[in-house]
Amino acid sequence: AQKPILIQGPMPIEAEKFAERLDKVKVEKSGNFVFYKGKLDKYPVIVAKTGKGMENTAAATAIAIEKYDPAAIINQGTSGGHDPSLNVYDIVLGERTVNIGSLKTGHLEEGEGIEPTNWIPMDLMASEGSAGEDPDAEKIRYYDGDENLLAAANAVKDKHKKGKVVEGTIGSADLWNNEVDRINWFHENYGTSVEEMEGAAAAQIAGAYDVPFLGIRILSNNKTNGGQYDPNTAAANQDYVYEVVKQYISEI
Ligand code: 5AD
Repeated sequence: AQKPILIQGPMPIEAEKFAERLDKVKVEKSGNFVFYKGKLDKYPVIVAKTGKGMENTAAATAIAIEKYDPAAIINQGTSGGHDPSLNVYDIVLGERTVNIGSLKTGHLEEGEGIEPTNWIPMDLMASEGSAGEDPDAEKIRYYDGDENLLAAANAVKDKHKKGKVVEGTIGSADLWNNEVDRINWFHENYGTSVEEMEGAAAAQIAGAYDVPFLGIRILSNNKTNGGQYDPNTAAANQDYVYEVVKQYISEI
């Protein structure tokens, strides 16, 4: 049998539009997670409504891999811009995805305060030892986007008319940054193009099982250039990802 392609979306507005476009849909649930199993151009495609955040996403990814053995995973949805050259409705293909909530603080004694700009990136996958003590863990862990998925996404760039499509770095954490200096800090230190709350969790679990992975994120807001939140971006991203999946299937 053909292995399905798994398309993840956190919120209803980020998953249901894609699910509606599948043929012969059967809905299955596991915990809070909803899986819409259907067909696209006669090829099996599963849309997963994961819920928001890293924990929901990690669990939904592991469950989907164990239950459905996907050939590839795309985690998609909205995001906030870290790059002032990107506007609401632009789309970032995750050449890399990174957990921007995984940090170790510096050493300060009582009364010395809190210094977030001195915090150090922490790679929980660096070793089996204590991440707090292991110097090897003091680095940023990037998860690379799959080359074939990236190629398929680049091949249909022109289908997205409402903005541009660029490769970049997707940063994830259970965090919504509204401090522009903090956003700039991540942009400079991690190279982030956008932030959201799921991609790195899905990438980490996909990597654990060796399943090809790509994050695809549209900007719904960009605090660095005054880009106001627009929820309609979620549907536009699904329209584009639909084209990416069609392209990817045509190459299998
Ligand atoms: N910061 C964090 N998450 C964002 N999202 C959209 N914009 C941002 C932002 N600026 C996405 C997250 C989450 C939901 C709140 O929207 O991925 O699912």
